[in-house]
Amino acid sequence: MRKNIIAGNWKMNTTLCEGLELAKGLNEALQGKTPKCDVIIGTPFTHLASVVAAIDTNKIGVAAQNCADKEKGAYTGEVSAAMVASTGAKYVILGHSERRAYYHETPEILKTKVILALANGLTPIFCIGEVLEEREAGKHFDVVDEQIKSSLFDLSREDFSKIVIAYEPVWAIGTGKTASADQAQEIHTHIRQTIASKYEQSIADNCSILYGGSMNAGNVKELVSKPDVDGGLIGGASLSVENFLPIVEAF
Ligand code: PGA
Repeated sequence: MRKNIIAGNWKMNTTLCEGLELAKGLNEALQGKTPKCDVIIGTPFTHLASVVAAIDTNKIGVAAQNCADKEKGAYTGEVSAAMVASTGAKYVILGHSERRAYYHETPEILKTKVILALANGLTPIFCIGEVLEEREAGKHFDVVDEQIKSSLFDLSREDFSKIVIAYEPVWAIGTGKTASADQAQEIHTHIRQTIASKYEQSIADNCSILYGGSMNAGNVKELVSKPDVDGGLIGGASLSVENFLPIVEAF
């Protein structure tokens, strides 16, 4: 059956020194514990190799927050999926709403990134989610369907089986507003049905669907108590061990 996952998304926070301290702190806090979920931290590119070297990667997986939509070559400033994989990171967050909104990442670009990530052995954590106007207009189901279909539904069954989905309503990211557990359950069920209708029920049942958007120690238990909420993608609350650990321990 599908895995429960708690993944931190540090975004553009922490210097290398601060990031290492945070990663080591979490590593230490998890010593001797067996969390009932997979734990992942999504660090800036510059921290990946050092963080991988500093922690027990059997306990904490490491993710990049992006990768290039090109394999290699004359793309100044870009970081390829192969480069990410070469650091020992095993995951890559793709399609985050901040990348879609601020860096104009289109469904086509994201589709290419997913393919390159998979080709390099990385597990994509693929983010989807509607903006407030779309939710208010009742379009959120259509929006997430379109995001999944346009970037993921050309994948083979085998490749799709490797994807982790993160549903993150844009209106809940960094705002302190969380979707209610019922709202999360409703749309996660819908996402799972969409996957089942394209692939098959067992693939949908095995796909981890995380919730993201102001998840914290206070609301995590209720959210993950819902049968289709398989964990979380955590921004703000992943930036300290004190805030992140209780989320990991919510299972
Ligand atoms: P937040 O961010 O937890 O700070 O709302 C979540 C995310 O953007 O992944």
